[in-house]
Amino acid sequence: MADTKRTAKLTIDGNDYELPIFSPTAGPDVLDIRKLYAQAGVFTYDPGFTSTASCDSTITYIDGGKGELWHRGYPIDQLAGKSHYLEVCFLLLYGYLPTADELEDFESLVTRHTMVHEQMINFFRGFRRDAHPMAIMVGVIGAMSAFYHDSTDISDPWQREVASIRLIAKLPTIAAMAYKYTIGQPFVYPRNDLDYASNFLRMCFAVPCEDYEVNPILARAMDRIFTLHADHEQNASTSTVRLASSSGANPFACIAAGVACLWGPAHGGANQACLEMLKEIGTVDRIPEYIARAKDKDDPFRLMGFGHRVYKNTDPRATVLKQSADEVLELLGVENNPLLQVAKELEKVALSDPYFVEKKLFPNVDFYSGIILEAMGFPTSMFTPIFALSRTVGWISQWKEMISDPQMKIGRPRQLYQGSTLRDYMDIEDR
Ligand code: SDX
Repeated sequence: MADTKRTAKLTIDGNDYELPIFSPTAGPDVLDIRKLYAQAGVFTYDPGFTSTASCDSTITYIDGGKGELWHRGYPIDQLAGKSHYLEVCFLLLYGYLPTADELEDFESLVTRHTMVHEQMINFFRGFRRDAHPMAIMVGVIGAMSAFYHDSTDISDPWQREVASIRLIAKLPTIAAMAYKYTIGQPFVYPRNDLDYASNFLRMCFAVPCEDYEVNPILARAMDRIFTLHADHEQNASTSTVRLASSSGANPFACIAAGVACLWGPAHGGANQACLEMLKEIGTVDRIPEYIARAKDKDDPFRLMGFGHRVYKNTDPRATVLKQSADEVLELLGVENNPLLQVAKELEKVALSDPYFVEKKLFPNVDFYSGIILEAMGFPTSMFTPIFALSRTVGWISQWKEMISDPQMKIGRPRQLYQGSTLRDYMDIEDR
């Protein structure tokens, strides 16, 4: 942490307190309030953590005002254009871009760990066929904590490494199995002669009755979607993984907690909700009705895929995905996809509406990802599982950073108590 002698003075009831100010390598300064309660007997209050830095990190940086996203200092548009998902995984995990030999070794290691323990198939059998794939992912990933005992001692760097590779390698297999299970098709095993994205597409769309050739343009678009969702600072699901892991819990169980949090429609579930919203709007002429609903304080409806806690200008990932959407839909000959027409018109109308301009609401990563995934043949229920498998490397990288920090403490927020003051128990006959 960049140290500094600068301090902020806080005066409470005539008493002055000096709070150290730390300056980051990028982004806003932070006030160190770790000793505030001990010195001043007060808590800070920040539900939703809109102004709170929960940790220091070197992995990802977001500039919400400029609409910038860096992974280990490299801007997301360059990574999306020049790199690929497994290289970005290496970058997030180890902090630097690999040499050709390092990348080859890493990709080979991941490829050779894509199978899951054969007995894990039994876990799928317990779900109803109409179970949401995210429910299955939470269950099966949590169940990994009962299988891989040789990679759960988090104090052992080697076991942390093994758990990391296992999760990155097996998440696509588990996500594809969740999809196959819900559509009643047999599971398709991974193949070591395919790259990561092609393997996932084949595990989802191949059937025993005929060969499945992966379209390289779709594989590239899939890989780009993985890359754009890989990590995103201390978002809700990453913070969930950090908090769960701070107690020393099993890493597989902690990732399952992250999957559960990501499922929410305000977070990773927004891609499914966004596409369902576009389908509900249906035609361009119905957009004004939904814009009015989004502005109506008495209507809980929100434009899914719009707005962001941090980005207040543009989500750089949406910019890249918008290009991919055009490429993929043109390739598939569905550039006139009515959903894409509604999406593009909705974006244009929303961005010219004073309400959205004033509240700085614009398309986020979830706005275009759903359109691409639907065009690729995925049902909306598979959108968030794909987000989850992409984000696993981010969760794991943040987990490793926290667990390997000797200063790590269990997370234990306090509260502003507004409940009853002390009172005696009343016997039932006296109530
Ligand atoms: C992701 O954190 C991350 O990094 C997340 C993520 C990642 O990669 O991990 O980027 C992935 O989760 C992207 C966000 C996906 N969610 C959605 O698209 C759901 C729709 N968006 C909203 O739910 C909302 O914008 C949030 C949750 C994304 C952000 O909410 P905030 O920052 O807590 O803002 P807010 O809810 O306090 O809203 C501020 C104002 C409110 O109006 P006022 O009370 O000030 O009058 O803006 C309004 C809101 O009503 N508003 C919207 C809106 N989002 C906010 N109004 C209409 N439509 C919307 N989408």
